Amino acid sequence: MPRRIDNAALRDRLMSAADAAALIMPGDTVAMSGFTGAGYPKAVPLALAARMEVAHAAGEAFRIKLLTGASTAPELDGALAKVGGMELRLPYQSDPATRARINAGEMEYIDLHLSHVAQFAWFGFFGDIDVAVVEVAGILEDGRLVPSTSVGNNKTWLEQAGKVILEVNRRQSAGLEGMHDIYYGTALPPHRLPIPLLKPDDRIGEAYLRCDPDKVIAVVETDAPDRNTHFAAPDATSEAIAGHLLEFLAHEVKRGRLTPQLLPLQSGVGNVANAVLSGLAAGGYRDLTAFTEVIQDGMLGLIKQGVLRMASATSFSLSPAGIAEFDAHVEFYRQRIVLRPQEISNHPELIRRLGCIALNGMIEADIYGNVNSTHIAGGRIMNGIGGSGDFARNSYLSVFMAPSTAKDGAVSAIVPMASHVDHTEHDTMVVVTEQGLADLRGLSPKQRAQVVIERCAHPEFRPQLQDYFDRACRDGYGGHTPHLLGEALSWHQRFIETGSMQVAR
Ligand code: COA
Repeated sequence: MPRRIDNAALRDRLMSAADAAALIMPGDTVAMSGFTGAGYPKAVPLALAARMEVAHAAGEAFRIKLLTGASTAPELDGALAKVGGMELRLPYQSDPATRARINAGEMEYIDLHLSHVAQFAWFGFFGDIDVAVVEVAGILEDGRLVPSTSVGNNKTWLEQAGKVILEVNRRQSAGLEGMHDIYYGTALPPHRLPIPLLKPDDRIGEAYLRCDPDKVIAVVETDAPDRNTHFAAPDATSEAIAGHLLEFLAHEVKRGRLTPQLLPLQSGVGNVANAVLSGLAAGGYRDLTAFTEVIQDGMLGLIKQGVLRMASATSFSLSPAGIAEFDAHVEFYRQRIVLRPQEISNHPELIRRLGCIALNGMIEADIYGNVNSTHIAGGRIMNGIGGSGDFARNSYLSVFMAPSTAKDGAVSAIVPMASHVDHTEHDTMVVVTEQGLADLRGLSPKQRAQVVIERCAHPEFRPQLQDYFDRACRDGYGGHTPHLLGEALSWHQRFIETGSMQVAR
């Protein structure tokens, strides 16, 4: 078996996960690797959770502040949440146990634009980072690190943390070496320079992470897979949403507003995203590019078929079958995939300059185009804004997609007023549900409302929405963005009280 730790000094710091976890203290701010269930540490967080459980049983408080790239997995967020081991979490999570703790008010959560995290750390808004725990695929003789299946904020964590614990995971393909592009040219204002990336393909940095070996207090060997959720084939609703969007893109190409190669694609993960990606293949597109956050199974398929020429991202999010495909053809994919720090993959200036097409999911949109991606009925967090704000605000085309109803039809995804706003009416260009697509570009608020109600709302809720809008136009305070404020959030109140937004008939 090839050696993964070629630096003698760091090999001397090999220890068990339990011994490494013992170096983390109650109250520490701990920055860990991990993004969409890829490249997160797999052993130290579990050992830390076990230590916390013992401390709590003895009546001692043991909690940490946890920073990552984005979401992780049951072995990290799940394990720490179960033992009540986090006092603060940022910038993104999608873990059920963590979500329950946050919504119970038992821990704090800061939901941040993913592009902001590194500069917030540099500005010192999170205080000192005591320890970084970072998964890598290997350590070179000179101490440089081969990044794992996600880059996220690892460059910043390794630079900012006082102490570093490395997990070297031999399960990650050795072929990852050379796939990454770590840019070391960022600086704080007023010393910032333009980032010299002109195409999604460009490599502007180094293939390795730098790390001061004197800061490394522990090295732990692991052999464990990423979260690797199974790939679900798109259902009829997702296919209908994808169908409307693909028809729209074809129309934009015909009108000369997009070239046949479109523009660099950003896509969230999940059912709808997979359906859109499959649709691109069926639509005869070739030589597209992606400038996105996450490479999912659908993108590997598109790269293989030549539909995607290349993809730039910060992380993988693959199923077990996707991992097997990647590992078997890693040389091929290494020529066509670049993984970057998330401050570059999600950089607003690059997204604006490249002119991306942003395709993101939403929880709800209101009739004027304000989008809620994060909260149920105003107060309960689902996951977080993730990169959707970085891309929605800055892309050439910003699309939000969702089924028109949730909870078996009891809840409308199109509402009079969004119960929480992540993306304002000024950022939302297109809204799509399985009912249809509303192109909001160039429309005033009242024109937008009419199109959203007609094209996107479910027929069960459409008359109610039209009635609200008509009465707001007639009786509302102000004729620009008409609302009946006493009624605007009554749909959500009804959902909280009855589990449904439907009016009893
Ligand atoms: N009211 C109440 N509940 C709702 C709802 C609504 N309007 N819309 C969705 N839900 C519930 C669903 O019922 C489901 O609940 P369950 O888990 O109990 O079954 C849950 O929310 C998730 O909905 P689902 O339809 O499965 O959505 P999804 O997996 O496509 O995710 C978002 C949708 C918005 C939660 C997800 O896209 C997200 O987190 N976005 C923000 C981050 C982001 O955009 N990242 C992109 C850059 S990679």
